[in-house]
Amino acid sequence: MRKKITVVGAGNVGATCAQRLAERGYADIVLVDIIEGMPQGKALDILESGPVVGFDSNVIGTNSYEETADSDIAVITSGVPRKPGMSRDDLVLTNMKIVKEVTQKLVKKSPNCIIIVVSNPLDAMAQLALKVSGFPRQRVIGMSGILDTARFRTFLAMELKVSVEDVAAYVLGGHGDTMIPLTKMATVGGVPVTEVLPKNKIDKIVERTVKGGGEIVALLKTGSAFYAPSAGVVQMVDAIVQDKKQILPCAAYLDGEYGVKGVFVGVPVKLGKDGIEEIVKIKLTPEEKKALKKSADAVRELIDIMKI
Ligand code: NAI
Ligand code: 2OP
Repeated sequence: MRKKITVVGAGNVGATCAQRLAERGYADIVLVDIIEGMPQGKALDILESGPVVGFDSNVIGTNSYEETADSDIAVITSGVPRKPGMSRDDLVLTNMKIVKEVTQKLVKKSPNCIIIVVSNPLDAMAQLALKVSGFPRQRVIGMSGILDTARFRTFLAMELKVSVEDVAAYVLGGHGDTMIPLTKMATVGGVPVTEVLPKNKIDKIVERTVKGGGEIVALLKTGSAFYAPSAGVVQMVDAIVQDKKQILPCAAYLDGEYGVKGVFVGVPVKLGKDGIEEIVKIKLTPEEKKALKKSADAVRELIDIMKI
């Protein structure tokens, strides 16, 4: 039997997630939005691409949660994206109301699902979804590290003129200005990038990575990135549905790991059928540890604003 995946928010990220997931063929998709007709129209359009692309997944769009019952995975993308000049944190008060309501409705119908949060500010919204759902931390995961890491790998590959697949890297920390691209761990064909690129070039790439979301917002002028973010979500869903035990950078609730307690922040996790099956510990330099703590403190500030 195919899995069932609900995607809440049928905007840019949500609809692209639904399309990519339907094309995987391993799950039926329910696309939910508050705008009448829009999720239904997008779902039908995706469904009608099935005969051409070659998938049998069912895709339905709806404005209610009836059809979401017993979902295995729920992806929350509902909320407003930022406009040029805004930071992700500026979205907190608007999106917290949306994410709270959506999480309550989702868990009522699918008490055993795994929640993947995408709405910004990501780490704070994941913390809110954890609190509201009452789920164990294994089943509430934030998507951002895969996106930030993909940007880092893209820019390194562009500079090195190699395939993106030859570049391995990690970006940890919160999804914001305090994220931490781990330059010492980044490799090209197994060789540390610090051995093949001068420091000033690496510093520029790190800066572009940290500001990667803003670069897209400035170009689009309305809305924010969605192709790479939806690809990040689908990599997480693949790992869960196929029980891959894949190690991916995701936002997870830390309970003392990396010296951080009681807050979501991006770290490497092992993803499998149960969600987060392990918080993977990698050796950080003292500077990286300090940066992770700073990142966690920035997330805590938002949690204080939300009063949760
Ligand atoms: P969008 O504006 O295209 O879509 C958002 C959708 O949410 C809209 O269709 C809207 O009608 C819907 N919505 C609003 N309230 C709702 C509710 N109560 N129930 C159901 N649907 C509701 O925005 P986009 O580009 O899809 O981004 C969505 C969110 O994801 C934003 O907060 C954005 O900042 C965030 N984002 C996070 C990323 C990450 O790496 N974590 C990457 C990209 C976007
Ligand atoms: C990004 O980094 C909007 O958070 C999103 O593109």
